Amino acid sequence: MNRLEVWWRHLWIAPSFSGPTPRNQLTKSRKDTTVYALRPATHTDIFVSQALKLYTSINKMATTFDISKAREQFPALQQGQVFLDNAGGSQALGSVIDSITEYLRKTNVQLGASYHTGTQSNTKYEDGYQAAAKYINAGRDEIVLGASTTQLFMNLSSAMILNEGDEIILSKMEHETNVKPWLFMAERLKLKVTWWHSDKPELKLTAENLKPLLSPKVKFVACTHVSNILGSIHDVRSIADAVHEVGALFCVDGVSFAPHRRVDVKAFGVDFYAFSWYKVYGPHIAVLYASNSAQEYVKPMAHFFNPTKTLEDKLGFAASNYEGVQAIPEIVKYLEGSDEAITEHEGKLQKILLDFLKSRDDITVIGTTSADSKERVPTISFVVDGISPKQIVVEAEKISNYGFRWGHFYSKRLCDEVLQLGSEGVTRVSMVHYNTEDEIHGLVDVLKKVLP
Ligand SMILES: Cc1ncc(COP(=O)(O)O)c(C=O)c1O
Repeated sequence: MNRLEVWWRHLWIAPSFSGPTPRNQLTKSRKDTTVYALRPATHTDIFVSQALKLYTSINKMATTFDISKAREQFPALQQGQVFLDNAGGSQALGSVIDSITEYLRKTNVQLGASYHTGTQSNTKYEDGYQAAAKYINAGRDEIVLGASTTQLFMNLSSAMILNEGDEIILSKMEHETNVKPWLFMAERLKLKVTWWHSDKPELKLTAENLKPLLSPKVKFVACTHVSNILGSIHDVRSIADAVHEVGALFCVDGVSFAPHRRVDVKAFGVDFYAFSWYKVYGPHIAVLYASNSAQEYVKPMAHFFNPTKTLEDKLGFAASNYEGVQAIPEIVKYLEGSDEAITEHEGKLQKILLDFLKSRDDITVIGTTSADSKERVPTISFVVDGISPKQIVVEAEKISNYGFRWGHFYSKRLCDEVLQLGSEGVTRVSMVHYNTEDEIHGLVDVLKKVLP
């Protein structure tokens, strides 16, 4: 019960009211608390009760994400293009674009100054950091914003403190962003690398298939939350628990997860987590989280005269783009209260496409065929007998305004070694909540025309 509701309820039991008691009112009162039943309800009581109902529904509306209104907030969606390469990069919110323009127009000065405009810029930048930290349930001192997830993992890998001979486990089901930095780290620190993957048909990283690889010698494990090819959601919480049982650190690439579900680094139990805001309706910047305890393994890379307390101090390299950082509150504001609506809507979108793909024997969905939102996000890859991944895209572009892609999408080890696909990889359709059911039905029509 919030403060206004308490106030309404306080009015409800005020002694000065009189008048008849509607039966249903009294029954309802008893359910809430016996105090309400001590005296009859009055007309004023009824008014107050109605007002409370109205207030509650307005309050609910304010926090309920309206999926049908979402498109209006993206200027790029008001043109004749259907965007289905969202796992590559999402469209930016109009409010983000406006805020960046406003920042560059009025407050684009070097941070740290004490003159009037300088203080405005400092505040906006700090608000961006605060909003990013709060959004992922991290402390302000546990995040750093930077150019990209690749860049942030590279920075982290240059700063990690591990001992020669320690073992690390890397997955083969990754975008190369969550591999190369750790191979570089292994080379630098002379660490032993063990590879981890899950074969077809499961293609799922789990605590169970990780456990045989774990030992007290393992000090670091990295994997993706969601593969940018397969779309399936890994249970990072249970993997984190297994990793921590042997005392290792756990690093997760959240890039393909964050556009679809709420990130909560504490609930996930991870030590390191990163994703890119340019895939979450914002500008081209990324965030890296490192828990306070994991930061003991991060050597500060700051200039010798600068502070080294927070993750930003340690790995910031003066590299976050000011106008991008200060726009983050707009993304957070937009996504507030969106979790359920987005999951539900995206579930409908993925079902439409998967139902079609599964209906044909000549199509193989790469990854789970389940449309269950607990299992996957709407990033769907497939191959088709008799037509190459590239040809599907080329032919679709000839007859439609549908934008989707083919390739390995930088998950080269997954495509080559685990999935053993050809050089063109897969055809990938990646949807987000601003896509409509009509668009996906339209895509099915386009595919029916271009497939053999
Ligand atoms: C799963 C995944 N991880 C990491 C990246 C790299 O992100 P960034 O471009 O911010 O380095 C991508 C980019 O497509 C991705 O899909």
